[in-house]
Amino acid sequence: MPPADSAPPALSPSTPVGVYDSGYGGLTVLRQLRRVLPTLDYVYLGDSGRAPYGGRDVDTILDFAEQCVERLFGEGCRVVVVACHTVSCVALRHLQHRYGSAERRVLGVTIPAAEAAVAVTRGHIGFLGTARTVASHTFRTEVRKLSATVRVSEVAAPLLAPLVEEAWEETDIARLAAARYVGQFDGIDTLVLGCTHYPLLENAICAVAPAGVQVLNPAPQVAARFAAWREKYPALAPAGGGRLRVLSSGDVGRFARHGARFLGEDLPPVEHVGERHGRLALCPDEAEPLGQVVRE
Ligand code: DGL
Repeated sequence: MPPADSAPPALSPSTPVGVYDSGYGGLTVLRQLRRVLPTLDYVYLGDSGRAPYGGRDVDTILDFAEQCVERLFGEGCRVVVVACHTVSCVALRHLQHRYGSAERRVLGVTIPAAEAAVAVTRGHIGFLGTARTVASHTFRTEVRKLSATVRVSEVAAPLLAPLVEEAWEETDIARLAAARYVGQFDGIDTLVLGCTHYPLLENAICAVAPAGVQVLNPAPQVAARFAAWREKYPALAPAGGGRLRVLSSGDVGRFARHGARFLGEDLPPVEHVGERHGRLALCPDEAEPLGQVVRE
């Protein structure tokens, strides 16, 4: 047995897969990625200090997305999965153009979501997402590329992600809000959960969806698509030791507590990142300031 004060064994260098979301929701995607590819190392970044993104303007989302993706590449990732539908729908092309190369890739969730929906629909897909996601119509555009005949109806549900962030998914408020939004669809046969937070509301949404409507969480298809991509580019996401690091721009204690519900298992100690001069930097051991703060 090693002496009690001996240093822990050095970890071998790792090329983790980066997973990025505006907050907790992308942990539902990470859960599927870890299920399908458990030996990879992952770094998850939840920008929960600045979430929700769904009501923000496009320029702000692009700024936040750049900072988060740069942080993940700075952590040694060679591929970043943008798990957030809001970012994926408005900023993916920009991120790919700015950071993508033979050595670095940025992948999104909108095409896998469209593929999963087109594969099961009988002709009319309902898509529930944030206000910004729905305003982009990116999901509808991707469905049209796959099928000229399938109809898409989109409904913005701006209250749902904040309810989940508050851990209120099993409350009457969540059920009422779900009923109000789902009630706006007419004649759909498939309902896509177009926000990473909504799988936690699946019970509430299924309870109010009309009989015969299939409620679809695209996360398993995102993971399946990623696994197929990795077959082609193994060097960009090599096998590691199944390690996980979690970064958050919000309260790290709260992120660890809430995050376990999304990931389906306990999170490792969450590391804090904060904006410093237009970049997201690791800010270890930073306590929340009490009272007033005067800048030098
Ligand atoms: N994670 C975001 C998405 O998937 C929803 C939450 C937000 O508005 O930030 O669209």
